[in-house]
Amino acid sequence: MTTTVRTRVAIVGAGPAGLLLSHLLARSGIESVVIDRRTRDEIESTIRAGILEQGTVELLDTIGEASRARTVGHRHDGIELRFEGEGHRIDFGETVGRAVWLYPQHEVLKDLIAARLAAGQDLRFGVTAEAIDDGDRPRVLARDVDGQPFTIEAEFVVGSDGSRSVARAAVTGSSQGGYFREYPFAWFGILCEAPPSSEELIYSNSPDGFALVSQRSATVQRMYFQCDPDTDSDAFSEAQLWDELQKRVPGTELTQGPIFQRDVLRFRSFVAHELRRGRIALVGDAAHTVPPTGAKGMNLAIADVRLLAAALDALLLRGDERPLDAYPETASRRIWKAQHFSWWMTSMLHVAPDATDFDRRRQLGELRTVVESAHGRAYLAEAYCGWPSSE
Ligand code: PHB
Repeated sequence: MTTTVRTRVAIVGAGPAGLLLSHLLARSGIESVVIDRRTRDEIESTIRAGILEQGTVELLDTIGEASRARTVGHRHDGIELRFEGEGHRIDFGETVGRAVWLYPQHEVLKDLIAARLAAGQDLRFGVTAEAIDDGDRPRVLARDVDGQPFTIEAEFVVGSDGSRSVARAAVTGSSQGGYFREYPFAWFGILCEAPPSSEELIYSNSPDGFALVSQRSATVQRMYFQCDPDTDSDAFSEAQLWDELQKRVPGTELTQGPIFQRDVLRFRSFVAHELRRGRIALVGDAAHTVPPTGAKGMNLAIADVRLLAAALDALLLRGDERPLDAYPETASRRIWKAQHFSWWMTSMLHVAPDATDFDRRRQLGELRTVVESAHGRAYLAEAYCGWPSSE
């Protein structure tokens, strides 16, 4: 027997984008149902990147005290770019007067889930969307936790269901349909129990490849080093992992400690050919993915949501279609700026397996151009901290 629920907006995917959208809609009095194929525990424990732009933190402030980004997270006023054994600080305050917050995505998810449940949101875990029927009243065809058919009938469907989106096929005509680019490297990520090696993040370019020194807390650190995409995460001993990391961060001594988590992150750049069809729209990773260098992923998802929430307000409260018609074009401008920034940071800092001596020297010239130019530093800081929401 099929269970059918009716609502104004069906949101497929309870990641940061879907959850925040349900909050913004609720603030306008628009009811929604959010489903996700994962369990609450899976969602809250998936380890992802940790940098929030100032605009993202401000939007999260609207969920009230449930947002711990400012209390548990840490404000960062700069990053270090490191090459040829020397660190160069990019000062965000001095260049753009903004900051970022280090607060991991799964903590954002815990905050959002708690806030939405406390507000009485219809939020269902373990419900898998299988297809979306377009039409004046689009429908999400799903299976509930027990495998029984479950349908949501809505006035609008939003696909916030991540990089393996089901909603994407309903918008672009195929689950692949998009512009994309692969990279010949990946990141080996570790979590370790140790005090921080540095107060700010270090993005390091070395002849052996890229490394990122990030943090989680006073006792837990997150670090990554460039590796081959086919690397087996169990192939290294702890001592080897520290060697691999340390040789990519010459000039800074890393504080070592037990490594309790390791993963290999493959990455690519992707933008769906279409972001909206009729009464269905895509946001976040369902619409685009970026390589993690520069930490734009979640911030870009939140920027989509800000736009789409306003468009749905106009549509559902005033019958005004114009902001929705403009959504793909407006969202694309920021998406492609972020695609460029993420690609640029990635190619400037990593060493491609086929890099020639010329490529290496040119890359160092590029890094020097950035750190020695007020414009270079300002561009990096502006893109890292995030463009204003009107852009
Ligand atoms: C992280 O801390 O996980 C992190 C930080 C910055 C990035 C990517 C990942 O650019």
